[in-house]
Amino acid sequence: MLPLTGAAYLAVCAWSALALLPSVLAAVSCDRACLEGHISDFLAALAAHDPSTLPTTEDVTYVENGQTLPLGTGEWLVAGPPGKYRHTFSDPDAGQVGTITTLTENGVAAIYIVRLKLEPDGRISQIETQITRDPGGAALYEKMGQPEAVWLEAVPRDQRLPRETLIQLANRYYTGMQRNDPRGNYSFFDQDCNRLEDGLQTTNVRSGDAYGHSNDTVFASLGCEAQFQTGFLGFVTRIRDRRFPVVDEERQAVLAMTILDHNGTVRVLPDVNGTSSPIPPYFDVPRTLAATEGFRLRGDKLFRIEMTLIEVPYGMRSAFPGRSQGALSSPGTNGTTTKNPCDRECLLDVVGQVLQALLAHDHERLPLARGAKYSENGQFLAFGDGLWETASSLARLGDADDDAHAYAAHFADPATGTAAYWGLSREQTTPGVLALRIKVHDGQIAEIEAVDVRAESNGARGGSVTLMRPPLPVEWDGRSLGRLHESFQQGVVATNNTNPNTSSTPPGLVEAYFDAWERHSSRGVPFAPTCSRRDNGGVQGNLTCVEQMDGLGIAPNGLYNRTTTVRDRRLLIADEAKGVVLAVAMIDNPATGQAPLPATERIPSTYMVPQLIKVTDGSISRVEGMVKWMPYGYTSAWETSG
Ligand SMILES: *[C@@H]1O[C@H](CO)[C@@H](O)[C@H](O)[C@H]1NC(C)=O
Ligand SMILES: *[C@@H]1O[C@H](CO)[C@@H](O)[C@H](O)[C@H]1NC(C)=O
Ligand SMILES: *[C@@H]1O[C@H](CO)[C@@H](O)[C@H](O)[C@H]1NC(C)=O
Ligand SMILES: *[C@@H]1O[C@H](CO)[C@@H](O)[C@H](O)[C@H]1NC(C)=O
Ligand SMILES: *[C@@H]1O[C@H](CO)[C@@H](O)[C@H](O)[C@H]1NC(C)=O
Ligand SMILES: *[C@@H]1O[C@H](CO)[C@@H](O)[C@H](O)[C@H]1NC(C)=O
Ligand SMILES: *[C@@H]1O[C@H](CO)[C@@H](O)[C@H](O)[C@H]1NC(C)=O
Ligand SMILES: *[C@@H]1O[C@H](CO)[C@@H](O)[C@H](O)[C@H]1NC(C)=O
Ligand SMILES: *[C@@H]1O[C@H](CO)[C@@H](O)[C@H](O)[C@H]1NC(C)=O
Repeated sequence: MLPLTGAAYLAVCAWSALALLPSVLAAVSCDRACLEGHISDFLAALAAHDPSTLPTTEDVTYVENGQTLPLGTGEWLVAGPPGKYRHTFSDPDAGQVGTITTLTENGVAAIYIVRLKLEPDGRISQIETQITRDPGGAALYEKMGQPEAVWLEAVPRDQRLPRETLIQLANRYYTGMQRNDPRGNYSFFDQDCNRLEDGLQTTNVRSGDAYGHSNDTVFASLGCEAQFQTGFLGFVTRIRDRRFPVVDEERQAVLAMTILDHNGTVRVLPDVNGTSSPIPPYFDVPRTLAATEGFRLRGDKLFRIEMTLIEVPYGMRSAFPGRSQGALSSPGTNGTTTKNPCDRECLLDVVGQVLQALLAHDHERLPLARGAKYSENGQFLAFGDGLWETASSLARLGDADDDAHAYAAHFADPATGTAAYWGLSREQTTPGVLALRIKVHDGQIAEIEAVDVRAESNGARGGSVTLMRPPLPVEWDGRSLGRLHESFQQGVVATNNTNPNTSSTPPGLVEAYFDAWERHSSRGVPFAPTCSRRDNGGVQGNLTCVEQMDGLGIAPNGLYNRTTTVRDRRLLIADEAKGVVLAVAMIDNPATGQAPLPATERIPSTYMVPQLIKVTDGSISRVEGMVKWMPYGYTSAWETSG
């Protein structure tokens, strides 16, 4: 059969071949030109904000920065036309194609990657995108204009390595980087190997610029192999969900997608040129980066590497999982709480035990049920991971005279066997506000859900700000939160109410509160007239809760005035004795407002918003809220795991 041009790819579908040889048909029906045609059509559809012209399967999966979204949402509402840089990897045998390009979102430049999977009948069944919000990187790509020629050359057939070998060689890169051992054998790099990271060359450059978040100016002057021989990348503690979906055998290139965990335990960068240096504050806390990487082989060596990355919540699973994660639930311990059922006093005691275990980095001392689950910011982690390795101080009750401990409260709900904590955490130098929900069942801890909003400070070398996110409406840079308001410590004043149906934390209150946020109207919510509310420790212009919810008087258009859905609403605890409710939700900000948009609203975002709510005499009297930026459409694993 003759090679097909882009225009013909839809027409070809011999049903007999489809029935007999689906994988071969893919090869026959869509060659390089056809695959590149799909990419052009896709980018044109995206710029037109209209996916209806795409030949997709009924159940096409659309993924944006790791989040599965309805096709036509997210980037489809904000994307501008693609830039001129385009680096496409084509895999006719697998019906896979991926490209690295640039675009603008509400006028702001970003690096844009899209991978399409085609079915044998020519329809698109997977659309996976990565948007790296790095205007500087996008500008570098546009300056380059096109990929280095070597990426696009066809390698003579007799010099090509087969698909499996190409994948194995690319995988060596990840195996070498994970816990980067300075004594490793890195001879799989070509002597002339170079790497780009977000459009910037980071090997063999003598610019004297520091590398990444570090202050090191020597690392980037080394070649690929010499870099790995320093062990400098050892702060990458795990590389998981490794996928190699597009193997371009003709060009001896692979487009890979992986997830890099940095568990926060590596504290020193090794010696590069006679001096070791401390790990940058960005890596004080557990971080996960998702990366797309192109590899070009020369012979059986890695010759070119083109990497782009984004930050995602720590431990986030791939939307297209690769190899298994290993066990995430606890094998259980034999201990039990002192009482079963666990009453209020017992639950409050469990909070103390969990805080101590976190500080001791020892979950095994807790009475964990078999299969107990642990999550951080909506991701299930193994006990022992995340805060279990990085927590260095936690504000505790009983030390209220000490300022470091003045911001903390414990809560209990014996009716559901739930205990909770809200207080200041610290990992190395980085503070955070930690909310914990602890579920006790049959005298053992069955679930611990941690929601931790870390301070994001703009210090040297990028400080500790979540990589490539827009500014938040209210930032928390670690400034003192002062004391947690005393009303969160006090009990409810006994009213000697004989009606058992009257609750100090009325059911439906949290729903009403989040409904109000979604509608931008305080109507129907029992806010006390004097109710005050803080966000990330800040007060917006001394406005009452009602004024904040109604968006009155806050420039330019009210607090979170353009957010839409308030999803994944989770009541973490309702403490009857204290009249306190702790809840968390995901709030979408699709960035679809009228131009000119403020910097906070140009990029589709989701805000995770833990809220500590005090109820006095049936009305909300005080709210302490935190805000963390999340990729648009982010969903808590508790919501999807059932
Ligand atoms: C490193 O690996 C290569 C290829 O597997 C091998 O030929 C070489 O002997 C190894 N070098 C050392 C020092 O082990
Ligand atoms: C490494 O250190 C030596 C001496 O400490 C210095 O002469 C040399 O310039 C340094 N190399 C680089 C690449 O900075
Ligand atoms: C990097 O250098 C700056 C400026 O000298 C300094 O403030 C910062 O602490 C250094 N960071 C690390 C991780 O060494
Ligand atoms: C729990 O008890 C079983 C049997 O009594 C024992 O085999 C196991 O090692 C114990 N586990 C722990 C964590 O103590
Ligand atoms: C975190 O990384 C360190 C260093 O690589 C490793 O020793 C430790 O086992 C890791 N922790 C987890 C929970 O995997
Ligand atoms: C509630 O009851 C207690 C004891 O029964 C009594 O001392 C107290 O005065 C009552 N409080 C109110 C507000 O009625
Ligand atoms: C409490 O609520 C239940 C169910 O709504 C109702 O049947 C009952 O009459 C109520 N009791 C009082 C004292 O109001
Ligand atoms: C809020 O009100 C207090 C007391 O009325 C005042 O001291 C403070 O400056 C006000 N803050 C703002 C941001 O207006
Ligand atoms: C945002 O606030 C303005 C007033 O400042 C109001 O006119 C507009 O309706 C608000 N938009 C939403 C979505 O609440």
